[in-house]
This record gives sequence, structure tokens and C-alpha cells, in this order.
Amino acid sequence: MLCLTLTEATVDANKQYIKKYCNDADLFELRLDCLNLDEMPKAVELSHTCKTDIILTYRRMIDGGRRKVSEEDRLQVLRTCVKNGDFSYIDMEEDLEDSELNALVEAKQMNIIRSRHDFDSVPDDVSKDLMNLCKHPGEIPKLAVMPKSVADMLRLLDGYRNTSMTRFILLGMGNFGVWSRILGPHLGGFLSYVSVPNQSAAPGHIDIETMSRVYPLDRLSSNGHIFGIIGNPVMHTKSPVLHNAGFDAAEVDAMYVPFTVDSVEDFITFAEKLPVDGFSVTIPHKQAIIPFLDTQTEAVQAIGACNTVYCKDGTLNGDNTDAPGFMAPLVPEIKKGMKACIIGAGGAARAIIYGLQKAGVEVLVVNRTESRAQELAEHFNCAYGSINDINLISQYNDILVQTTSLGMVPDVERDPVAGYEFTGKEIAYDIIYKPLMTRFLTRAQAAGCTIITGDKMLLEQGYLQFKGFTGCEYPREVTPRI
Ligand code: ATR
Repeated sequence: MLCLTLTEATVDANKQYIKKYCNDADLFELRLDCLNLDEMPKAVELSHTCKTDIILTYRRMIDGGRRKVSEEDRLQVLRTCVKNGDFSYIDMEEDLEDSELNALVEAKQMNIIRSRHDFDSVPDDVSKDLMNLCKHPGEIPKLAVMPKSVADMLRLLDGYRNTSMTRFILLGMGNFGVWSRILGPHLGGFLSYVSVPNQSAAPGHIDIETMSRVYPLDRLSSNGHIFGIIGNPVMHTKSPVLHNAGFDAAEVDAMYVPFTVDSVEDFITFAEKLPVDGFSVTIPHKQAIIPFLDTQTEAVQAIGACNTVYCKDGTLNGDNTDAPGFMAPLVPEIKKGMKACIIGAGGAARAIIYGLQKAGVEVLVVNRTESRAQELAEHFNCAYGSINDINLISQYNDILVQTTSLGMVPDVERDPVAGYEFTGKEIAYDIIYKPLMTRFLTRAQAAGCTIITGDKMLLEQGYLQFKGFTGCEYPREVTPRI
């Protein structure tokens, strides 16, 4: 079940969200600690009119609550709400023992969620702690923990796997716990909490619109496939939006999840246990993953970087879709004998040089730090030079590829080859996609060049991964705006 946590200061504002999201949420959690004090009587009213079940929660500050309140005042509000209201669930902390409140809750036959929040760590034996939380039969234990590494993620995953209870709530907070908010119900959890957009109610909460659109819980059956992306940071990536839209349209029983990863080695253990069927790899793990691969394509070997791993029968098989992804929009333009200049000698340049050389294009790499260009040139057996050598660049100008970070938001005015004047005959390709039209491309277009924007490479490498993950072509007509 999906539970929307309501954190507005007034009941009327919360009602608006109930109305807006009643079809997406299975349950609402009313956070009394977020309500203005004079709104408390209205909370009772709300419980009588809302058609969806509500969890009554008055969080203490030590558990992430927002109001400083004496325990007696808090209990008094809870007692009044339970007595006069019509709430289906109440969240009670593990150390909360109040006979008056207990009697009222029992009389109303409310479900008790018995909660503990650990903002520092993940316990050694999560399933044992979860089991020990319940004070009385029938209670639903809720344990919210804070994983800070993949090693912590592993203990959290063991918690799901080793729990024999039929109803429990288990979740990891923060970036290392985001997967548990998406996959928790798939792993047997009773519910997953989400926030109203732009109002994160707890660390790592996903908002209800993203959850419903990108990670709908009912997309994944119990036999469904789990894919994802590993990186650090990784939460900004658009890959889940792309792949999950593809799964929906192609009716693939799968979910693509972002995994914040500090240790590739630990993630491999995690991926085996979950299990994960395949994953994309982004910065900073594209090289670090290679020693763990059982097989690797010629592209991975030549480029020295892997951006895709397929997991099959306990083996990890590495591929690199950056090179063919980069080449896809360029291929129709390529003619025999063409020469290309690659501007920049970072990680991205490697896949690009490989792709161009495979297509028979002669390559020059120029860079601010010439020694880095030289290193690449020696590896790929191509020409190199300084980024300021306009004469040299002009000798390789059938295709100009911009691979540096210059011109990316927020420094959109920058151009690494500002001194180069386009003739209008070049194909200009920038791999930056924020903004789509960089200064480099704007100048090229003004001169009459054919231009290729960076979103093409991003999407094409994703389409290829999708094909590798699922065996089906990506349904391009559903490509989301990146
Ligand atoms: P990526 O893996 O995305 O290619 P990277 O390895 O950090 O990223 O490489 C960034 C590229 O942008 C490099 O070619 C870098 O040039 P240096 O090797 O001289 O650092 C280039 N770059 C970054 N800032 C630059 C600047 N101000 N002027 C010119 N090139 C720059």
C-alpha cells in the first residue's frame, strides 16, 4: 500500500491533498505535529469525512516530529482524537505506554503501528528488532533506519528476507534507503510512505507523483525483474524515468531503481541477494566495476569503462553502451575518409574515440592539459594536441565533438574552443544536455553546421541498455522529456 503523509499546517490544506491524491494513495497519515494547535478539533472532523483510512500520528521531535510539546499534552491530544475521531490506525512509539490511550484505542478497534526511528544506523539483526517491537498481538511493527553504506543496505535487505511476520513496515531513510521505499512492499512490507510534492516529510521520502508515475507499486509482480543504476551521487539521474516508462509501455514486469553505492564489491553481494537482473553504472564506478566482471565486451576492454552490467545465472557481464549510443545519431552522417576532433580527454572521450574509430573515422583529441590528450592518443593510436591549436583542429573538422564540462549549467556562456570559427561544413556534436543548445552548438548552428545535441547520446545509450535488459526494443514514442 502507498501511504501519503500529510504535513500541512491546516486541515483544509491537507483536505486538498486528500482530494487530489485519493486515487493514488491507499492510505493517509495525518501528522498532528505539523498541524497548527487550533486545528486539532478539525482533525477529528476530517477523520469522519475522509473515505480513505487514516493513520493518526503525533511524532515526537526525537523521532523526527516538528513540534516541541510536553508528553502529557501530546498524549492528551491523541486521546481526544482517538476518542472522538474515526481513525483506522494509530502510530505509537515502542516506549509509549498509556493505559487510558490503550483503552481508547482498543475500544475503537484501531490498528496499532508500533514504531521506532533510528536516525543513526541499521541494527545488526533487523528482523529480530522488528519482531521485538510489538507489545501486543496484532500490532504492526514499524522500523525506520538510516543506512549510510551498502553494507548497511545489506543488513536492511536481510531484515526483509528474514522476517516471518505477515504485517510489518520496514524502511531505510536517506539516499542509501531510497530503494527500500520503492521495493519495500515488493519485499513483503505493509506499506510505503510518500510525501506531497516539494514537502519531504522524512529523509529520502519520494513524492507521491514521482512514486505513482515512475515507481508504481503494482508494476512489479512477485516474480518481476529488478534493474537499477549504481552511482554516487545517483538521485539526480533520469535513467529511472526512461526505463520505467519503457517497462510500462512494453508491459515488462520490472522496476528500475536508483542505488546510491559507496562500495561496488558490497553492491555485488547486495545485487545477488535482492536479486538484481541488471544495472547501469555511472560515476564514479565505471572503472571500479571491471575487476568484478565475469565477462566483458571488447568495447569495455578497449574503453576501460563499463556502463552496463547484465546479471545472469550468478555471472556479471559487462558492456558499454556509451560508444554505440554516441554513434547512433552520427552514423547517418558519416562518410568515408572523415576526420573528427574530440575536444576534451576525460572519461567520456574514451567511449567516443572508440566509437568513431570503429566507424573508420580518423581521430584527433585536443585537451587543455595536453598530457591527458597524449595518454589517450597513445592508448587509441590517434593524433593529439592542445585545445588552443586552432590550426590543428581545422585539419580534423569534419566532425567536432565537445566532451568537456564547459558550457554546462550554470556556466552556459563558456565554450572550450571559442577561438575556432565554424565554416558551416562541420558536424558539431556536444554531449552536454543541460542546456541542450550550448554556446558551442549555437555558434555552429549560426554558421550553418549540422548539429547534434547531447540528449541523443543519453537516450540512445539508454535504449540499448533497455534492449539488453529486456530483449525488447525501447518503445521510443513514450520517451520522456529529459
Ligand atoms: P568526463 O568523464 O565527464 O569526461 P572528466 O574526466 O572530469 O569528465 O573530464 C573533463 C574534461 O573537461 C577534461 O578534458 C578537462 O580538461 P583537463 O583534462 O585539462 O582538466 C575538461 N575541462 C574541464 N574544465 C575545463 C576548462 N575550464 N577548460 C578546458 N577544458 C576543461
